[in-house]
This record gives sequence, structure tokens and C-alpha cells, in this order.
Amino acid sequence: MRRALAILTFLLPIGIAQAASPAEILESHTAQAKQENPAFKGFSAATGDRFYHAAVKHSSGKQLSCATCHTDSPRNAGKHERTSKEILPLSPTANKQRFSDSANVEKWFKRNCQDVLERACTAQEKGDFIAYVLSVQ
Ligand code: HEC
Repeated sequence: MRRALAILTFLLPIGIAQAASPAEILESHTAQAKQENPAFKGFSAATGDRFYHAAVKHSSGKQLSCATCHTDSPRNAGKHERTSKEILPLSPTANKQRFSDSANVEKWFKRNCQDVLERACTAQEKGDFIAYVLSVQ
């Protein structure tokens, strides 16, 4: 019993720390964006829309964009460009799990930005991207 309690008190704060709303996750990028650029003026869904759809020429010769796997709209289920595995929609209105776990969001930003842009995304790009995904109803 004591042991179970000890495990619970250890796990609970982790669960609480990771559960967030999409608005909170977007907000957390604001501080980072201000640090990157003191002239930061806020995030733009329109810029995020262009970023999401912009095809970038990869060093492998392929043209890749976020839409390649996540489809034309974040409301659709996507398909992995290499493995063909289904990817659930990115929009939180279509998939409640989205943008609710900061560590998971950052893990996939890291992987996918590297895949598409062959570099990390800036906080501005991530914020614009999230603003766009949240704006698509
Ligand atoms: C090669 C395929 C592929 C491309 C291209 C791709 N993604 Fe993804 N993305 C995935 C997969 C796979 C997942 C994880 C599976 C899942 O969560 O359903 C994912 C999940 C995510 C998530 C996690 C969201 C959450 O809260 O769960 C974010 C953020 C994300 N992608 C951003 C991007 C961005 C930004 C781009 C464009 C720069 C991009 N992705 C391009 C395959 C891709």
C-alpha cells in the first residue's frame, strides 16, 4: 500500500505537468519566440498555412511538405509518405489528443522539421503552424 502510494505521488505530478491545452502549448512558444526575436509580433495562422503547404526540395531530391503526410487539411487522417501507416488528424477538433502533451509535440516537431526542412523549426514557425492547425475548423 505504502509503495503504491509512493509510486502514485511520483507519477501524479508528471501526468499533470504534461497535460496541457492547445492554447497553453501555443502560449509556451510565445516566450521562446520572443527570446529568438525581440521584435516578435505574434503568431499568424496565414503564415502557418503557407508553412504547412510549402514544398521544400529535400537533399534526396524529393519535394516534401507537412501536407505530404498530414494531407492538404489538418482535419484529415494522413498517411506516412514512406511507411504508408495511417496518421490521425492533427486538428484537436478531429482528434482530442492533439496538442495536449508538450513533450510529444516537441518530439514530433523535432523529427518532422528535420525530415522536411533538414533543420529544426524556429519557435515562430512552430507557433504559426499550431495557430494554423487550430484555425482550421
Ligand atoms: C514523413 C511523414 C511526415 C511529415 C512529412 C510530417 N509529419 Fe508530422 N507527424 C508524422 C507522424 C508519423 C506523426 C506521429 C503520429 C501521430 O501522432 O499520429 C506526426 C505528428 C506530428 C505532430 C504531433 C502533434 C500532436 O500533438 O500529437 C506535430 C506537431 C507534427 N507532426 C508536425 C509536423 C510539421 C510541422 C511538419 C512539416 C514541417 C510535419 N509534421 C510533417 C509524420 C509526418
